[in-house]
Amino acid sequence: MKNYNGHRLWRYVLAALLALAGLVWLLMNITFFDTKPQPLLSAGTAVYENSSESIDVRVADLLSYMTLEEKIGQMTLVERNSLETNSDIAFYQLGALLSGAGSKPENNTLTGWQEMIAAYKAEAAATRLGIPLLYGVDAIHGHAHVGGVTFFPHALGLGATQDAALVEAVARATARQIAAGGANWNFAPNLDQPRDMRWGRVYEGFSDDTELVSQLSVAYLEGLQSPRNAGEQVFVLGTLKHYLGLGDMGFNTSLNENYLIDQGVTEASEELLRVRYLPPYQAAVNAGALSVMVGLNTWGDKRMVLEEYLLTDVLKGELGFKGFVVSDWYGVHEGRQNIFGATVGAINAGVDMVMLPFDYKQFAKHMRWANRLGLISDERIDEAVGRILYAKFALGLFDKKESVLVLEEAVEVEERALARRAVADSLVLLKNDGVLPISPSVAHIRVAGSAADNIGRQMGAWSLEWQGIEGNDVPGATSILTGIKAAVSAGVKVEYDQLGEFSSGGTLADVGIAVVGEKPYAEGWGDREYPILEAEDLLAIKNLQMVSKKVVVVLISGRPLFITSEIDSFDGLVAAWLPGSEGAGVADALFGVKPFSGKLPVPWPARAEQLPLGQGDETADGSDLLFPRFFEVELQ
Ligand code: BGC
Repeated sequence: MKNYNGHRLWRYVLAALLALAGLVWLLMNITFFDTKPQPLLSAGTAVYENSSESIDVRVADLLSYMTLEEKIGQMTLVERNSLETNSDIAFYQLGALLSGAGSKPENNTLTGWQEMIAAYKAEAAATRLGIPLLYGVDAIHGHAHVGGVTFFPHALGLGATQDAALVEAVARATARQIAAGGANWNFAPNLDQPRDMRWGRVYEGFSDDTELVSQLSVAYLEGLQSPRNAGEQVFVLGTLKHYLGLGDMGFNTSLNENYLIDQGVTEASEELLRVRYLPPYQAAVNAGALSVMVGLNTWGDKRMVLEEYLLTDVLKGELGFKGFVVSDWYGVHEGRQNIFGATVGAINAGVDMVMLPFDYKQFAKHMRWANRLGLISDERIDEAVGRILYAKFALGLFDKKESVLVLEEAVEVEERALARRAVADSLVLLKNDGVLPISPSVAHIRVAGSAADNIGRQMGAWSLEWQGIEGNDVPGATSILTGIKAAVSAGVKVEYDQLGEFSSGGTLADVGIAVVGEKPYAEGWGDREYPILEAEDLLAIKNLQMVSKKVVVVLISGRPLFITSEIDSFDGLVAAWLPGSEGAGVADALFGVKPFSGKLPVPWPARAEQLPLGQGDETADGSDLLFPRFFEVELQ
């Protein structure tokens, strides 16, 4: 008897388990359109289509028509190369696409971009509600993935100018480029405050100084988001990134095995986060920011995408942020065993849109499942979608007629002049033993170094490719060497050799200009234990010193480098950061056409033992920095 009962019980348990597994399977594999599609609305009659209603009213009205699938689609951000077919945009009701760095059309011109994105937008426009698509790009120093456009200096160089009006003008020009290429969303400004020169993203931030970052981020955001003239079409959504404390990650803390610092652990206390890293966000939120990207960093033992307190309570609550929170590249799922759980955790923590950027089908399924199981509430989904729609309405996407913006030649000329000015203003004079300014009519100049005649190096990464390029195959751009040649008076002899090997029979040039620096790098691929000059550049400087009366070193780099052992031998030193496409701006300052005016945007350590720096300028071993933040040599 006992045995018989036990046997039956076992069969019940098995049946129950099978039924449960079947239910789970069913939930996970439910066909896409399991809620009844709503009927089409007759165009122009709905409240949300009426531009004289307030945005809040329009959002609430639109939400009331939306199915769960349409809402989930709005929360989905897909890299264009992951789209199985363009028609998936309509089928999955996708709310946003992006071009990851280097992801560009075959015809890599503004026209090529415009055509590519128009095809995506048309898919979204043909859906029942016709909710316009956001298309995001990393135009972090101009729309620098497009051939032929002007590339501005990277943010650290702009930080050295301390010129908010200039930064605003650069952002406005960038917005024009973005719009001319058909996109409407930029993953900038970058509010990171880099504290460790060993990190591969130092140059993406303006400075490590809270006040300066606040000022310049607001200026950049306004340049992107506020059209100068009423009725002007250009209005590109900005993104504050990377929330929060991304510049403060510890050395050797990265969760990515390829990196040292990037994607690591932010070690700041809450008090420090509030005092040092939150104010720029508050300033930019007050200035109308409508999207914030969450960093790939971890705070304490929690990944930032799971930080409900910082995302929901602090950003959306205390700071009064009305826009949407978007996760960074694969940031919700990378390295996670349980993809479903990771999605649930991030959405409930406050992420409104997920930069998947790959598997949108799985995301749609998981979101529906989580909602059915009550793990993600209807209210939370409505809140997320409401925020995304809010930004789309504010951007005018529902009301504007799509028109193709073409950059006239005059605009291009203006942009190149602006970029050239930005380059000259970003140069920081760090040492001058009488070599600068160089007279344009000096008889003989010798130029050397890996970055003198290499536009790829002066542009840095996030230029045409994620990790940048080498060489001069950049239409419309000017190398630093070309700028130098153009700056001198007729008859001045300018010689160039990359390694500084000149056969001159013993005559010394009046001046040598060594343009040396780093190979391009992006993100954790640029993490270095000892950022120093490469051997070939050290050799070029030495060679040049032997054949020139005086040598000025121009450093092309995304951060301070350790130059303590070499600097004494330099007659002059200029930090030129990553100036972009307009190399002539470097010559403008070298030859005194424009005075040096840049100030060091971050402290410059003398040796590795000084790292990490303290919260002021104090060093780990108490010794003196090579140069403090905001240092500059004044030209007499
Ligand atoms: C970077 C972001 C960037 C995103 C989209 C990520 O790898 O961390 O700064 O906006 O990619 O390209």
